[in-house]
Amino acid sequence: SSRPRVFSGMQPTADSLHLGNYLGALRQWVQLQDTHDAIYSVVDLHALTVSPDPAALRARTRVTAAQYLAAGVDPERSILFVQSHVPEHAELTWVLGCLTGFGEASRMTQFKDKSAKQGTDGTTVGLFTYPVLMAADILLYDADLVPVGEDQRQHLELSRNLAQRLNSRYAPEGTELVTVPEPYIVKATAKIYDLAEPTAKMSKSGNPSGLIELLDPPKVVAKRIKSAVTDADTVIAFDPVAKPGVSNLLSIHSALSGVPIDELVAEFDGKMYGHLKVAVVDVVEAALGPIRERVGELLARPDELDEILAVGAQKARAIARETLARVYDAVGL
Ligand code: ADP
Ligand code: NA
Repeated sequence: SSRPRVFSGMQPTADSLHLGNYLGALRQWVQLQDTHDAIYSVVDLHALTVSPDPAALRARTRVTAAQYLAAGVDPERSILFVQSHVPEHAELTWVLGCLTGFGEASRMTQFKDKSAKQGTDGTTVGLFTYPVLMAADILLYDADLVPVGEDQRQHLELSRNLAQRLNSRYAPEGTELVTVPEPYIVKATAKIYDLAEPTAKMSKSGNPSGLIELLDPPKVVAKRIKSAVTDADTVIAFDPVAKPGVSNLLSIHSALSGVPIDELVAEFDGKMYGHLKVAVVDVVEAALGPIRERVGELLARPDELDEILAVGAQKARAIARETLARVYDAVGL
C-alpha cells in the first residue's frame, strides 16, 4: 500500500505495562493504525539484556502481546509479532554495529545510566549494543515513523544516523537503501512521571508505589493514586516545575478523559487535592478496566494468541528478509 509505515516495540521485561508505556506509546500505536501501515513487536531480544528467568521471559512475551491487543492493536490491519521469531533483526544488527562508532554508542545516556547502576562487571555488551538492535528493528521495515516516549529520542537519533550512513556509503547517489525514520513523540504524554517521585519518569525499574500498572487490581491502582506525592500547597494548578505532582495528575486525567488541562484547572478551582485524586482514580479505571478484562480473555486462550503471533511473524519476516537481502548485497555480502 502507499500509506506511510509505522514501527514500534516494547520489551517484555515486566508482568504488566505501566501507564507511561500506555500513554507515551501504546495509545498512539492504536490510533496510527487508521492512517498508517503499522508493525508492532514484542522485542524479546532486548529483554535478554536484563538476564530474565527463561520461564518469566516466555510468559511476559505473551502477556505483553495480550496488552497490545487488548489496547486495540488489530492483527487484521497491522502486523504484530515477536522479535526473536524474525532472525533478520539479529543479522542486520551486526551490519549496523560495524557502522556504529564506539564513542557514538558510548554517548547513549540510557546505557550510561543503567551501566552506572550495574557496574562494569554487571554491564553486558548486549546492553551496550541495545540501541543498534533497536535501529535494526526500525530499518528492517523501512519505517517512516516511530511512536515512542521522550526517553527514546536519543536512540531514535542514532537510528536516523545509521540509516543515513548506510545510504550515503552504500546506495547510489540520490537513492536510499533504507528509509530514514522520524520519531513520533506526542508532547502532552511524552513523559509520565512517577507518582511517588514526580520529578522522575514512571518506570518499571522505579519505585513500585510510583507506578500505575495496566494489570494491577483496581484497589492497588486507587491506593497508589491516592498516595501520590503532591506538595504542601493546596492550589490545583498546572505548573510542572513548581507543582510536578499535581501537574502529573492533571496530565494523566486530561490524557485519559480528553478534557483540556485548563478546563480541568477551572473545574477543580477551590477544591482539594483529594478531589482531584478521586477523579483521576475514576478516569484511570475507566481506561484500564476494559483492557484488564480483555487481557484476561486473551490469556485464557493461549493457542489463539500464539496463532496471531505466528501469522504476524510470517508477514514481518517477508518484509525483513527483503530488506536484509538488499543490505547484504549493497555491502558486499
Ligand atoms: P520502561 O521505560 O518502563 O523500561 P520501555 O523502555 O520498555 O519501558 O518503554 C516502552 C515504551 O514506553 C517506549 O516507547 C518508551 O519511550 C515509553 N515510555 C516508557 N516510560 C514512559 C513514561 N514514563 N512516559 C512516557 N512514555 C514512556
Ligand atoms: Na524506556
